[in-house]
Amino acid sequence: MTVFDSPEFRSHQHVSFIHDEGAGLRAIIAIHKNGPQGAAGGIRMWSYANEEDALTDVLRLSRAMSYKLALAGIPMGGGKSVIFGNARTDKNPALLEAFGRAVERIRPRYVCGPDVGTTSEDMVAVRRATRNVRGLPGETGDTSPATGFGVYRAMKAAAANALGGDSLEGRTVAIQGAGAVARALATHLRSEGASMLVADIDAEAAAAFAERVGATVVPPDQILFQEADILAPCALGGILNDDSIPRLRCRVICGGANNQLAEARQGEALHTRNVLFVPDYVANAGGAIHATQAGPDFDDARAMAEVGGIYETCRRVFERAERDGTSPDVAADRMAEEVIASWG
Ligand code: PHE
Repeated sequence: MTVFDSPEFRSHQHVSFIHDEGAGLRAIIAIHKNGPQGAAGGIRMWSYANEEDALTDVLRLSRAMSYKLALAGIPMGGGKSVIFGNARTDKNPALLEAFGRAVERIRPRYVCGPDVGTTSEDMVAVRRATRNVRGLPGETGDTSPATGFGVYRAMKAAAANALGGDSLEGRTVAIQGAGAVARALATHLRSEGASMLVADIDAEAAAAFAERVGATVVPPDQILFQEADILAPCALGGILNDDSIPRLRCRVICGGANNQLAEARQGEALHTRNVLFVPDYVANAGGAIHATQAGPDFDDARAMAEVGGIYETCRRVFERAERDGTSPDVAADRMAEEVIASWG
């Protein structure tokens, strides 16, 4: 593997490779940017096919975190970690505690928390080794409800722009993925009277989801191409690519997954096709906003209200895109880069 030649290095400030043999831990921690209050971002546990895929993922995800936090007005840079392994079979408290020891060693501060493959409960073991962890049970808790709520708020802002009003009543939303964020999103959509299509590579998860929120199950390889007002990618990244974009039949894309565009240029392709793409790191910032409100005077309702502000952030992004004559993803990048530059 050509670590130092990875094309995903974009002025990252720190990358650690962790190998703790006793705990069976192999992980990578990447800090893209150190902000005024350190860096933050979740812990992903995934069975990567090889080390190069894991490195690519952690570099891309940590960079997206910098943009996410900057645009959400949180004075922290982006970080991310990936743990090699199957979250169902390889995860245990000793491994998570060993990971916490690695987090504790990172300087300046890296604050971690739950992400794909890790839960709020998992953070208890991490906490034994470091205070730099958020999303703990009894503190800010699971990040998924906040992420789902933020995606819902972003969807309403996008509907106001592209569908002639911000009500989602009677709108069709195609949801890719039936995980925790998708479920949180779906409860809001359901109360507003939207109709939903759902797909997941785990057929049982899709069926349970559909039953719970009243959605129709679609095969995983067809969900992106359903005729729908809104497509909500809530699984993994890279799904908007040269193959999928020409086949889309939606007006808006707004979901919880990170790094939805396979390559940056595809934002322009969507713009040309008149599909309103809500930049993923704007729509899915809810978990990060909620988790970073942690502290002695944490108040869930106030943190959720803060998450709701994603609506206004989306409106500002769409306005900037219009003013600059560019796509929303480019506009959001510019706005985030201005914030980061202001940190000096
Ligand atoms: N995993 C989520 C994200 O990366 C939430 C999170 C943010 C967790 C920051 C911890 C710290 O956006």
